[in-house]
Amino acid sequence: MKLNENYSNLKESYLFSTIAKKVNEFSHNNPDKKIIRLGIGDVTLPLCKAVIDALQKAVAEMGVQTTFRGYGPEQGYDFLKNAIKDYYKERDVELDPNEIFISDGAKSDLGNILDLFDTDNTVLVPDPVYPVYVDTNIMDGRNIIYINANEANDFLPEPDENIKADIIYICSPNNPTGAVYTKEGLKKWVDYALKNNAVIIYDAAYESFITDANLPHSIYEIEGGKDCAIEFCSFSKIAGFTGTRCGYTVVPFNLGKLNKMWLRRQTTKFNGVPYIVQRGAAAVFTKEGRKEIEENLEYYRENAKIISDTLDECGIKYYGGKFSPYIWLKCPNNMTSWEFFDYLLTNIQVVGTPGEGFGRNGEGYFRLTSFGSKENTIEAMKRFKNLLNK
Ligand code: MLT
Repeated sequence: MKLNENYSNLKESYLFSTIAKKVNEFSHNNPDKKIIRLGIGDVTLPLCKAVIDALQKAVAEMGVQTTFRGYGPEQGYDFLKNAIKDYYKERDVELDPNEIFISDGAKSDLGNILDLFDTDNTVLVPDPVYPVYVDTNIMDGRNIIYINANEANDFLPEPDENIKADIIYICSPNNPTGAVYTKEGLKKWVDYALKNNAVIIYDAAYESFITDANLPHSIYEIEGGKDCAIEFCSFSKIAGFTGTRCGYTVVPFNLGKLNKMWLRRQTTKFNGVPYIVQRGAAAVFTKEGRKEIEENLEYYRENAKIISDTLDECGIKYYGGKFSPYIWLKCPNNMTSWEFFDYLLTNIQVVGTPGEGFGRNGEGYFRLTSFGSKENTIEAMKRFKNLLNK
């Protein structure tokens, strides 16, 4: 038996597990302190009524002989794939339902998709970046090239013709920086991918936070996008499914063998998302569902505004927070990102995410999320202002 030694090249634990461990230790030693968590991007509002109604109806169906369901199609039920197809159509993106695959979340599929690619490929990731892209490639032993995302390029790096990559990761609105590519910005990446025969792994998990009609929600809004990109999306952020688990992956037919390979992979290694959950997900796209999730998204956008306003008052530079639940701020007084993490946890019991956890260029930055409750966000910012304006 030989171990996959690539695992020894990973950091000891996943970023958010490391943070949870530190916070639990602090909480254990300071049981009287109220900790406010604005670290991991986990939602706090409950599922909306339309989703709950659909889930309950589906549960009832499962208890009746004639409507009970066993194994479903591994790639998802048509009712959900068609609802997603219609959602894309609103932005003039035409998808075939067989290009859509329902998953248990974007994170899983972002890792699973690598089954389709040889370990010999070179991977291009922006730095800072959602750690899953890097870790899953380290696990396979792929060569990773980093491209700088920094203040000089507003955290939206452009392709460099001198770099040859086969697999390119793009997340927009970006985790962790909240930066959003324009259509023109994305077109440069599409052109680069087509020229280099590369594939773009496009993470659109936060698309629902975009409110500017000119900004793209999907890479398929860009000419040529369907010829070079696989898109990943999630019900976690749009509709609070972080604990319910559902997402989808789009593998266009134009990508040659990849659509069939993904179907082969999924039918072999995956048994599909539960019928009940898929019914809940489909309700997100109904008239009532859309109205209710929009109210929830607005609630988180207002939280982002509370955070941004506080940072403005404290004179702290930040990015994101406008079309994204993440606010990416510069640590004050030249603190490192982990120093700032400890400073906030120890003094005001507010938890954020140290930028260094997202890559070397994240050093000196810190991420806050707007997914907390309004009360907690207001309280956290009150504490923050008192501490920083001292
Ligand atoms: C984050 O905090 O970066 C996200 O919650 C991670 C995820 O969605 O897996």
